[in-house]
Amino acid sequence: MKLLVINGVNLGMTGRREKGVYGVQTLDEINEELRFFCAEKGHSVDFFQSDLEGEVCRALHGAEGKYDGIVLNAGAFTHYSYGIRDAIASITVPVVEVHMSNVHAREEFRKKSVLTEVCRGEVLGFGKNSYKLALESFWL
Ligand code: DQA
Repeated sequence: MKLLVINGVNLGMTGRREKGVYGVQTLDEINEELRFFCAEKGHSVDFFQSDLEGEVCRALHGAEGKYDGIVLNAGAFTHYSYGIRDAIASITVPVVEVHMSNVHAREEFRKKSVLTEVCRGEVLGFGKNSYKLALESFWL
């Protein structure tokens, strides 16, 4: 399978911000681990990160016809971006929503996702392993 991991706003700061919440590994380090995790099972994975909402939308549009599945951690966009929601709904590639933290055990505004309804499923609360569980969902 050909898979794509998209990270949204502030996820490029992983390993440098709120380490108690998101861990000490950088996004590049996590991505390398994910690449190995997929390769071991015979799947390929590409990565995209942007702090810009429109760029995340374009990455979703561009995935149509190229990928079998998308793992998306939209960061704070999750809670308010109707643009990203509509972009997910615009494509036929299944998207699994991911969060490293347990958003339901945090501030009130994080409990609402405007993306979940248009996603195939959601994985949250397992740190970097949330990405692995979401990737695995495509081949299990
Ligand atoms: C996050 C949770 C969001 O609420 C937050 O804005 C993030 C990261 C997570 O991975 O736990 O940036 O998506």
